Amino acid sequence: MDPGSEKAAMEFIEKFYEGESTGHDYWHSIRVYNMAMAICDTEPEADRDIVGMAALLHDLDDRKLGGDEENLPVASGFLKTHGATQSETKRIIEIIHQISFKGEDSVVPACIEGKIVQDADRLDAIGAIGIARTFAYGGAHKRPIWNPNNRPKDKMSAEEYYGSRSDSIAHFYEKLLKLRSMMNTDEGKRVAQRRHDCMLIYLDEFMDEWNGKR
Ligand code: NI
Repeated sequence: MDPGSEKAAMEFIEKFYEGESTGHDYWHSIRVYNMAMAICDTEPEADRDIVGMAALLHDLDDRKLGGDEENLPVASGFLKTHGATQSETKRIIEIIHQISFKGEDSVVPACIEGKIVQDADRLDAIGAIGIARTFAYGGAHKRPIWNPNNRPKDKMSAEEYYGSRSDSIAHFYEKLLKLRSMMNTDEGKRVAQRRHDCMLIYLDEFMDEWNGKR
C-alpha cells in the first residue's frame, strides 16, 4: 500500500459517512481502528498495516447501509487506488468478509489479523457505546425501545422473554450479550468482560425503572 494510505483511508471514510446516524459511522470505524491497534500491541505477530486498513474499511460496504457485501466495491476500490498489492487486497477483503456477525453462521477468521479486527468491531457493539449505538440504530429503523406486550406470557427463559426482533432491548439478548464468549484474543476477552458487565447493570436498571422501582 502507498505510504500515507492509512491517513487517506481516514479522510475517505470521514467523507463517506457524512450525515450517517445509525451507529455505523466514521467514529465507529475510528474506534475499531484504535482498539484493533491496541490489541495488536498484545499480539506482536500481527501485521499492523493489514489490521489497520481492514479496520478502517470494514463497514464501507455493509448491507445495513445498503452496501454490496459480496463484492465490497467501495473497499476494493479504495485499495486499488492506493497501491495495495494483490496479496494485500486479498488478505484485507477476506478479513472484511469473515468478521461480520451472522448469528449461528458467524465465522472465526483464520488469521490473527482478522481475529483482531473482529474483536475490535465486536467490542464497539457492547458496553456503554454499544448501548448508545443500539438505540441509535433502533431509532433509525423505527424500532421501539422496548415493548413488553410482544412477549409470550407463559414460562420462558430470559432470552425468550426479552428476545424478539421487534425492539431495541431484544437486540441485547439476541446478539450483544453473546459477544463476550465469542472473543478471539486475550485482550479482547478482558475488555469484553468489563463491557458485558456494564450492559447487565444497565438492563437491570432499565427493567427496574420500567417496573416502577424507586
Ligand atoms: Ni463495524
